[in-house]
Amino acid sequence: MLQRFLATMERKLLWRLLAENFRSQWPWYALGIIAMVAVAGATAASAWIMNDIVRSLGPGTPKSEVYMVAFSVAMIFAVRGTATYLQSVFMAKAGNAIVATQQRRMYDRMLKQGLSFYSSQGTGDLLLSFTQAAQSARNVIDTIVAAFMRDLLTLVGLIWVMFAQQPVLSSISFIAIPFATIAMQRLTRLIRDVVSRELTSISRIMEVVNETTTGIRVIKAFALEDRMAETMGYTIGRVEKMSNHIARLQAATMPLMDFLSGFAIAGIMALSATSIFGMHIVTSQGQLMSFLTALIMAYEPARRIASMRLNLETGMLGVELMYGLLDHPITLVEKEDARILPKGPGQIVLRDVTFSYGENDKVLKNLDLTFEAGKTTALVGPSGGGKTTIMNMIMRLYDPVSGSVEIDGTDIRDVTFASLREKISFVGQETFLFKGTVMENLLLGRRGATEEEVIAAAKDANAHDFIMAMPQGYQSNVGENGRNLSGGQRQRLSIARAILRDAPILLLDEATSALDAESEHAIQQALIRLGEGRTTVMIAHRLSSVLRADEVVVIMDGMAVDRGAPKELVARENFFKRAYDLQTDKAV
Ligand SMILES: Nc1ncnc2c1ncn2[C@@H]1O[C@H](COP(=O)(O)OP(=O)(O)OP(=O)(O)O)[C@@H](O)[C@H]1O
Ligand SMILES: [Mg+2]
Repeated sequence: MLQRFLATMERKLLWRLLAENFRSQWPWYALGIIAMVAVAGATAASAWIMNDIVRSLGPGTPKSEVYMVAFSVAMIFAVRGTATYLQSVFMAKAGNAIVATQQRRMYDRMLKQGLSFYSSQGTGDLLLSFTQAAQSARNVIDTIVAAFMRDLLTLVGLIWVMFAQQPVLSSISFIAIPFATIAMQRLTRLIRDVVSRELTSISRIMEVVNETTTGIRVIKAFALEDRMAETMGYTIGRVEKMSNHIARLQAATMPLMDFLSGFAIAGIMALSATSIFGMHIVTSQGQLMSFLTALIMAYEPARRIASMRLNLETGMLGVELMYGLLDHPITLVEKEDARILPKGPGQIVLRDVTFSYGENDKVLKNLDLTFEAGKTTALVGPSGGGKTTIMNMIMRLYDPVSGSVEIDGTDIRDVTFASLREKISFVGQETFLFKGTVMENLLLGRRGATEEEVIAAAKDANAHDFIMAMPQGYQSNVGENGRNLSGGQRQRLSIARAILRDAPILLLDEATSALDAESEHAIQQALIRLGEGRTTVMIAHRLSSVLRADEVVVIMDGMAVDRGAPKELVARENFFKRAYDLQTDKAV
């Protein structure tokens, strides 16, 4: 039956969804299905017993029989109630496990993605995958299990009661079925389209909320509140309109079925009064009651089965989104036989590296560059020249389009990510702190560091004093992305984190840009100490930090255009001199 229902693509996804999830949760589904069988049986029995109720209420029935029927009624409904409860609990157990599993899988996949994934993927879609899409996966399975087990079995049971009690009336009332089916099919198409558009708009709402939390300063500073409210208002309005549309279409299924069953019941009542060939169609009132009860009870499961396709199709939109994320190819992968990066002095070599972000122009062009082990190399040059990109290459956040990056003679594509990144400590242009305490954030530098080590690192980064001045010291909360701290404080924490990491290679991307002259001087000292015996690559616009490097490389337009000792370069009539002459007064 399902085969005809869904397009090929969706059918494949559906089988995959069932194969992956049903298998893992089968014990719960098995229990759920047993409970559903009991529900179906008890429902049929409750219709069947109507005949006995009516009969036993008639005159001259022995007391014992009345008690017997009463007891049976109580039992049937007790079984039905208990089974319904158990069925819900078991199904929820399996369903929640599926949601949790899929969310974990999606997150694992997300973490494995390279940076390019994040430039291409909208936050809204990602959030939607984690919330609604994971839920739809569960709903789709629930729909199928409930429709095929509980509803179909219930329906079969009730139909059996109907035919057993009133064969002629049953045959007549089945005339309504084809009408109901056709009408349902019409509605399904309509609703699917609207739901699909609704999902897009919900994703946009999430995006705007996210933009608002991260960009609130800019929004306030530029008085963009009205504009944001307008964008959001429009999107929310769209979702509201579409939700109403969906509700109208979905609600249309109910009166439709109501009309049909109303007519069926009315018709049957009328028929029961008539006779064919002198024979009454209705043989006993008890049987008619049983039949009518079964007919009325059959309405709900029939309606659910009829709307199964609708629920499946709309649910599959979420499932598609979820599998889109789960199947998103990982561009940056660890080799199957990846080795541990061998211990070594930490020499870094870029060999003929060409790189571009996506389809864009080349950012690095046949770059040959060596960073000597244990030395400090400063990268200088105009904005957008490719300095940060070089660091991205060394950390293997991206793979070069051609050429290779080697550490101590080993191509970094041959080693495990963990062993590569363990060797590297990084302080970036944008500092990022996680929600939590100062201590927790610092400990991210090196798991298992002692409190003394953390404090020593904070002192080296000139952060200890301001941390102690905070109300709870090292246990103070930094807020989401360090919102409770100043830019310079954030930066000092991220330097402390890097100091704590104690890795042989140190990458500093304008690491001291947000500091005042005094703290910068203190941190420079800390970084010099930190840099001792480590391969340090630093990007710095300030002459003071450039001057203490062992070597300076000028990066322009993706190429190394000049290199040499700092003093030597400053003396030369070239870009470097022009760029740094201007700063000499204030920076040195
Ligand atoms: N994620 C990205 N996607 C696409 N293009 C990018 C991305 N990151 C950087 N670029 C482009 O690559 C070029 C080099 O950028 P890069 O960040 O390496 O410059 P930079 O030398 O560090 O500049 P700055 O001194 O301003 O930090 C720029 O033209 C930039 O537009
Ligand atoms: Mg940069």
